Amino acid sequence: MKSIILVGAFIEAVELCEKCGYHIVGITDPYLKGDFMSYPIIGTDDELILKKEQYGQNSLVLVPDSPVVREKLFFKYKESGFKFETIISPLASISKSATIGEGCVIADHCNVSSAVILGRGVRLNVCANIMHECVVDDFVTIAPNAVVLGRCKLASRSYIGANATILPEHSVGELAVVGAASVVTKDVATEMVVAGNPARGLVNE
Ligand SMILES: CC(C)(COP(=O)(O)OP(=O)(O)OC[C@H]1O[C@@H](n2cnc3c(N)ncnc32)[C@H](O)[C@@H]1OP(=O)(O)O)[C@@H](O)C(=O)NCCC(=O)NCCS
Repeated sequence: MKSIILVGAFIEAVELCEKCGYHIVGITDPYLKGDFMSYPIIGTDDELILKKEQYGQNSLVLVPDSPVVREKLFFKYKESGFKFETIISPLASISKSATIGEGCVIADHCNVSSAVILGRGVRLNVCANIMHECVVDDFVTIAPNAVVLGRCKLASRSYIGANATILPEHSVGELAVVGAASVVTKDVATEMVVAGNPARGLVNE
């Protein structure tokens, strides 16, 4: 049984890691003390880094939903010599031709289709559906039930809201946000927030 540490206390992440058969050594959290779901709270991120000798042999799982927070934590721990585990639910479907980067989390019932490329620290929430030949860059979050159709490109740290649909061959820029249940029919620029069907800019448009 492989041992991991969760960076962030969140019930769904704990249950996913349990389901995947990992041994959870502990959890970092800036506010909690004692235990979370019977697993020990190690302390803050800075405290875990100070305890590298004791804990550094365990891979880390990045829990936060925010792409920017995950990116920050990834590089903070990486610089201190930690490694990251990729967590894939046994209930997810992953194509044999897909590529999955370090430190991704793929929840139950996700579909990662043929020739999809996932970068580092990507988070696919429950039932996210990533169709053929999509490229999903580092630290992108895709919320539950979102559908990303064939050959889309999602740039680093973009966020795709729950139940959104990105029509084929479209791109979403860095740090852009697609609102829940939106339908993206044209490319989304960097840092733009879009929502609705068809998706229109809420900011910067
Ligand atoms: C798009 C989003 C980021 C906008 O958040 P925000 O900047 O706080 O926007 P507000 O809530 O202030 O809403 C601004 C306007 O956009 C509308 N709006 C917000 N989200 C919308 C959506 N998903 N679809 C259509 N319209 C939306 C609001 O009704 C409001 O319209 P109004 O000005 O006419 O009243 C957010 O609503 C959203 O959809 N986030 C995704 C959440 C999600 O999927 N989380 C998954 C967790 S697992």
